[in-house]
Amino acid sequence: MRLFLAIPLSDELRTMLTDYQDRLRTAGVTGNYSPAENLHLTLAFIGEYPDPEHVLDAVSDLSFKPFRLGIEKTGSFSDTLWAGTVRNDTLEKLVRDLRRALSDAAIPFDRKKFRPHITLARRASLPGRIGDLPVPKSSSMRVDSFSLFRSDRGKRGMIYTELGRILSDDTE
Ligand code: 2AM
Repeated sequence: MRLFLAIPLSDELRTMLTDYQDRLRTAGVTGNYSPAENLHLTLAFIGEYPDPEHVLDAVSDLSFKPFRLGIEKTGSFSDTLWAGTVRNDTLEKLVRDLRRALSDAAIPFDRKKFRPHITLARRASLPGRIGDLPVPKSSSMRVDSFSLFRSDRGKRGMIYTELGRILSDDTE
């Protein structure tokens, strides 16, 4: 099964980003928009791996403090449009620790440099410059967990299923 570790977004952040997607649509940006329930921030992409329990065991002892995740910009990788998060040392450290834990447990993952982003649309085509439609910076969320997801191709796009959740130090 195809696995990845990610932070699911709060309802407030989801609403802010789906409102922003509506503004992009209205401005004539076409593409495959990520549905609200699929919006997430990937921390590590594992890909095909048969043993989710081993992944959960490997990352379950990670220690991290809750932190705030804010959105500050939009950008694109090729024709993928995304919202980028405010730089955050706790997030960066969490990703370093998490990737080390995966390595130590011999779990393969994509080792590309971490560029925190929330994909808003794939195969996007823009009539103008994305910079002309700035994302609202007012919303942020408290992150006190991250999750292991499996990803399956459904009839109408990707279906992400949460398989387990790792809580931060101060979460009951
Ligand atoms: P993306 O949104 O930029 O495509 C599930 O596929 C999640 O894992 C997505 O957030 C995706 O990022 C991310 N991901 C990271 N590396 C990936 C890879 N090599 N192949 C597919 N998805 C990857």
